[in-house]
Amino acid sequence: MAQDITNQTPRTVAVLGTGIIGAAVARNLVRKGFNVRAWNRTAAKAEALAADGVEPYGDIVEAVQGAAILVTVMKDGPAVSEAIVKATAGLARGTIWLQLSTVGVQAIDSLAGFAAENGLIFYDAPVQGTRQPAEQGKLVILASGPESERDTAQSIFDAIGQRTLWVSDVPGASSRLKLALNAYVFALTHGTAETLAIARALGVDPALVIEALTGGPLDSGYFQAKGAAMLKGDFSTSFSVDNGVKDARLVVDALAGTGIRADLAEAGLGRFRRAARAGHGDKDIAASFLA
Ligand SMILES: NC(=O)c1ccc[n+]([C@@H]2O[C@H](COP(=O)([O-])OP(=O)(O)OC[C@H]3O[C@@H](n4cnc5c(N)ncnc54)[C@H](OP(=O)(O)O)[C@@H]3O)[C@@H](O)[C@H]2O)c1
Repeated sequence: MAQDITNQTPRTVAVLGTGIIGAAVARNLVRKGFNVRAWNRTAAKAEALAADGVEPYGDIVEAVQGAAILVTVMKDGPAVSEAIVKATAGLARGTIWLQLSTVGVQAIDSLAGFAAENGLIFYDAPVQGTRQPAEQGKLVILASGPESERDTAQSIFDAIGQRTLWVSDVPGASSRLKLALNAYVFALTHGTAETLAIARALGVDPALVIEALTGGPLDSGYFQAKGAAMLKGDFSTSFSVDNGVKDARLVVDALAGTGIRADLAEAGLGRFRRAARAGHGDKDIAASFLA
């Protein structure tokens, strides 16, 4: 923590993690005129963004040094925690940290604690939306954090998203909301997969399921997209089964001790695990259809 905030370049953003969502976020920030640096554990993925005007860094400390804004988009809490600890020597007090990864309840509280101890201004900002909305700058950002730097945070959110829902001024609330929303996404995914599989198992063309529901009250854009992908056998990844396992686990763990049962989330976790064990971990969660 050797840096001085006054030496930082305004509008310079360091993006840590350039997987599906992080790469799209970095590209959209460049398009909106920010100076964007990127670091990724597997360096090649950050380097691949150079053609889009992103400056790749092999060294995480150098990546964050002088950046006024830090964006983390990694797999889970342990990945973010390890990265931020490694980056500490390059971080100035007063740096704005926007934490976009889905990390769950315990990890978000511990990351917020790390930020407070190190003078970082922390926004808990998980996102709704998958590969295509991320690439189109149409994510929905669930944001929680202090009033003080909201304008700056909002300028980043506007560059990567179509809407920001301010949830609370206390970090942690957004990560909790994100778990509830993921429970819904997974219920829809598994519900679609299982319904198609039931039709097929009963000797009925599963395409008739989609035809029967199209245009009615049970139809949705998500049902259409995932149902079509399942029937085509197109499991190109927007949101991986491995991340589905991680996020379903976060839902189940978060409910421990609340007295509320997450029956669907637990069953869905089993289904994602079965898909992963069958070798589909890096495929899209539509591969629930293969479980
Ligand atoms: N895709 C979606 O639809 C979606 C939607 C909403 C929220 N999210 C959340 O957004 C986050 C990123 O998702 P994604 O789809 O972009 O995932 P992804 O494509 O699987 O990318 C994961 C990223 O995390 C990094 N990572 C994993 N383990 C790490 C570790 N131990 N240390 C450092 N870096 C590590 C990966 O680095 P490597 O390249 O080295 O593996 C990669 O940059 C996740 O929390 C996910 O739950 C995703």
